[in-house]
Amino acid sequence: MKKSHAENVVGPWAKQKLDALESYLAAYHKVMKNQKFKLIYIDAFAGAGWSRIRAPEQDSVTLGDLLDSEQETAQEEYIKGSPLRALGTGPGFDQYYFFEADKRRANLLCNLKEEYPHKKVCVAVEDANSGVQNLARKFPEFARGVAFLDPYGPHLEWKTVEALAGTGKVDAIINFPINMAINRLITKDPDVRQSWMDLLDNCFGTREWYDLAYEQQTGLFGNDLPEKSRETVERLLGLYQRRLNNAFGHTVAPSLVRNTQGRPLYYLMWASSHGRGAPIADHIMKLGDRVRPPS
Ligand SMILES: C[S@@+](CC[C@H](N)C(=O)[O-])C[C@H]1O[C@@H](n2cnc3c(N)ncnc32)[C@H](O)[C@@H]1O
Repeated sequence: MKKSHAENVVGPWAKQKLDALESYLAAYHKVMKNQKFKLIYIDAFAGAGWSRIRAPEQDSVTLGDLLDSEQETAQEEYIKGSPLRALGTGPGFDQYYFFEADKRRANLLCNLKEEYPHKKVCVAVEDANSGVQNLARKFPEFARGVAFLDPYGPHLEWKTVEALAGTGKVDAIINFPINMAINRLITKDPDVRQSWMDLLDNCFGTREWYDLAYEQQTGLFGNDLPEKSRETVERLLGLYQRRLNNAFGHTVAPSLVRNTQGRPLYYLMWASSHGRGAPIADHIMKLGDRVRPPS
């Protein structure tokens, strides 16, 4: 593959997430095979089509790296990203929507149209949140779909998740980057900077995250000193899972993705308005890094 500065750079663990997506899509197509619905695939935060695997010594990434993922590396190993997994799995969807805010990556996605001339692919160079919310508003009556929501950081707005749930027709697979990005914005100092508060409020769709993350401690002189809880990650994962369950009606236990040194990075989560996909999603999530895409 031609080297490009627009390419997406990922850790080797990204394979776990993408293999899980591919396995779910393969199972989804089997289940929907005899149904007459129009099938729609939505990839918010779609990337560049291909991703370059980061060298193991680059496992430790900074917050800056995560929020702005442009990184240089000498490694030259590539894996297929989520758009290619979706295009190449099973009989495929009737319509694909790829949202990617980075123009250069979106251009690379547009090239996929030539590789798959018979597939209906729409590449939207725009913010995934407004794009997916618009799409959800006019989601066709006689359609069903899968949405893969794969942000680097806390950029997936709760409103977007809620809009997909509101269709009652879309299964969502979400990368919830609680360890990698979200927890790092929740500083030890409870006086979190306003721009990060806004990001987190939008991500959770509520300020509840703050009260779960910071516990009131009574100081020596009776003054209240909020302190960051050691259980912040577990509590916020629980909050997100509860909210997903309330919005969609069905969820399964999330799957933890770790880096090559075993450090937790993010959780893969599944939610749907229909329970039918739950046993499949549960099976795939439980496999964790042992999940293999169907051959
Ligand atoms: C984790 S990567 C996605 C990887 C992709 N799913 C794959 O499997 O190859 C996140 C992508 O989201 C894009 N992005 C960041 N903020 C965005 C936004 N608000 N709307 C749409 N895309 C965004 C980044 O440019 C990046 O390509």
